[in-house]
Formats: sequence, structure tokens, C-alpha cells
Amino acid sequence: MIKAVIFDMDGVLTETSHQHFLAWNRLAEELGYILPLEVKDAVRGISRLASLDIVLKAVNADKRFTESEKLVLAEIKNIYYIESIKRFTAEDLSGGARELLELLKENGLKIALASASKNSKFLLRAMEIKQYFDIVVDPAVIQKGKPAPDIFLKAAELLNIAPEDCIGIEDAYAGIESIQRAGMTALGVGDAAVLSNCSIVFDNLQGVYSYFVRLFRE
Ligand code: G6P
Ligand code: MG
Repeated sequence: MIKAVIFDMDGVLTETSHQHFLAWNRLAEELGYILPLEVKDAVRGISRLASLDIVLKAVNADKRFTESEKLVLAEIKNIYYIESIKRFTAEDLSGGARELLELLKENGLKIALASASKNSKFLLRAMEIKQYFDIVVDPAVIQKGKPAPDIFLKAAELLNIAPEDCIGIEDAYAGIESIQRAGMTALGVGDAAVLSNCSIVFDNLQGVYSYFVRLFRE
């Protein structure tokens, strides 16, 4: 029986996957590279430092920087990213997000956030949805990022709900794998071609809303 829904943030509750890509692109351009568009999907759900490795590899620059230089590059990318989200408001929520959160609450489900982003607490407040979340996993305490199951398992543990009673919602291939490895039901949002490892994919959160309306009627 489904008792909780665990959300990802970027690309699910808001379209910040775009802002993440733009920030990486700005960094790459300053270093003299053109970032291939595929990187946008490749870094979905992947932690900041692991994303930097993907970015550098994509432009054949994976040997160019030392580990301490890479920390600086990741920090610069984060400054660009923060700059691009600093004026976010409730208007930047994905269509249907608030209605979905309300529906889940009305039906007595617990709600959690399992985002790899250290900026998601800011977004929860800026988009005025923090009050819906029973728990928010701090990605800093998670050793292994997505696709490892750790962050979703941590959310279930904090909620005190068995993983099989949880649904996870993700826009990332790595995120879907993380949910599945945690033993939960995975719902994908976005491009079904990107989410080839997920059997239930919706174009947007309105689709997820309808899914839950049907589920609650059963
Ligand atoms: C999310 C995004 C990734 C991003 C990661 C870390 O999972 O999908 O693209 O790299 O969060 O975000 P942060 O804001 O901490 O750099
Ligand atoms: Mg995401």
C-alpha cells in the first residue's frame, strides 16, 4: 500500500535542469569549450562534482585540471547556477506541482524530497512548497549519489515507511535506477527516450496527478 511519495527536485518540481545546463555551459565556454547538448541529460540527478567530471570528459578536458582546481570550477558553476535561480518564485513551479502536492496531502500520504542538489532547500522556500514536505534528505550526508539507492532509502528511513510502500518520482535515468534499487515504484517525468529504464513515464506532473487520482479511486 502506497504511504509516501518521494520527489526529486530539478526537472520534476521545477525545470532547473535547464539552469544547471546553462551554468555548466557558461563555465565550459569560459574554459574555451563548446558543451555538447547531450550533457544536459547526462548530468540529471548527478552530484555537482560528479557532473563536473562528465562535463570535462564531454569536452576531452578530463586530464586538464587538478582535484583542487576542480573544486574551484564546481564552485564557479554553482555561483552561475545560484545567480540564475535567485529570483525564483512560486511561478517557477512545474505545472501541476502544487495540485499534486495538495492531492497527496489530502489523501494522507507522506511527502519527501530526495534531491542531490545542495540548492533545493532554497528552491523549496522560494517556490513556497516547503510546508508540504514531511522530510527533506540532506544530500551532504549521502555517501553514494544516484544511481545508488542511498538517498531514496534515507528518505524512507526518515519517514519510517518501508521502501515498498513508497513511490519515487524522477526525471533522470540515474534517478530512476536509484528508486528501483531502493525497492520502490518509479514514476518518470519527461522524455520517455531518456527514461528508457522506467516503465511508467509521464510528459509532466499533470500526468502524474491523473495517475494518483486513479490510484486513490481504486
Ligand atoms: C540535481 C541536478 C543535477 C545537479 C545536482 C547537484 O540532481 O539534476 O544536475 O548536478 O542536483 O546540484 P547542486 O545544486 O548541489 O550543484
Ligand atoms: Mg532531476
